[in-house]
Amino acid sequence: MRKPLRRQMLLVLMKDNRPASKDRCQNIVLIGFMGTGKTTIGKIASERLGLAFVDTDDLIVEREGQPIPQIFERVGEAGFRKIETDVLRGLAGEGGKIIATGGGIITQPENIRLLQELGFVVWLAATVETIFERVSMNRDRPLLYTEDPLQTITDLLAEREAQYEAASDLRVETDNFHADEITHGIAASAGVASGLTKVVLTLSKASAICIAS
Ligand code: S3P
Repeated sequence: MRKPLRRQMLLVLMKDNRPASKDRCQNIVLIGFMGTGKTTIGKIASERLGLAFVDTDDLIVEREGQPIPQIFERVGEAGFRKIETDVLRGLAGEGGKIIATGGGIITQPENIRLLQELGFVVWLAATVETIFERVSMNRDRPLLYTEDPLQTITDLLAEREAQYEAASDLRVETDNFHADEITHGIAASAGVASGLTKVVLTLSKASAICIAS
């Protein structure tokens, strides 16, 4: 039986000693486990908000001239993480982008600081079941080449949860929402957090979004 749709989107703004928005570049950075929709939502958000879209996985593939499974084969996960950190460093100092990241980017402590310096960090969260459903169609994630991918997802998610939390300004539960709705929530929250005094979201028939201050 289908679960009833939960129509209240959970957006949790994290508060503690994260760097003030004036000390950060003006990007929206998407983090979260594989299959939580970083690329899909990032592309929609970039169109709606008129910001450029970059994906750290794409930058890695471009730089190495190889797909991710082959990079893992050649240099292992540790080698992949070094390249990933390097690519992240390369994005420093520039704003105006939606930046989607690989699911394991938060496993390197240095990356947490780099992510926060890049802008407003949004953690796209989902349950193990949703993630499994979303990733099982696709064979390009070497960490899931295991006997029991569902268990691997459960274990990795448990290991990483605190790191996603440490890195993020906002957590969005994505299970029951359409990418458009999530994009609206993220844009509004980023506007509030970056100090716009008033945020106006205008939803047209085409779901265009407009943020005014
Ligand atoms: C990884 C996630 C992948 C990719 C690589 C490792 C991870 O990105 O960076 O396979 O460690 O979770 P997506 O989250 O875009 O699938």
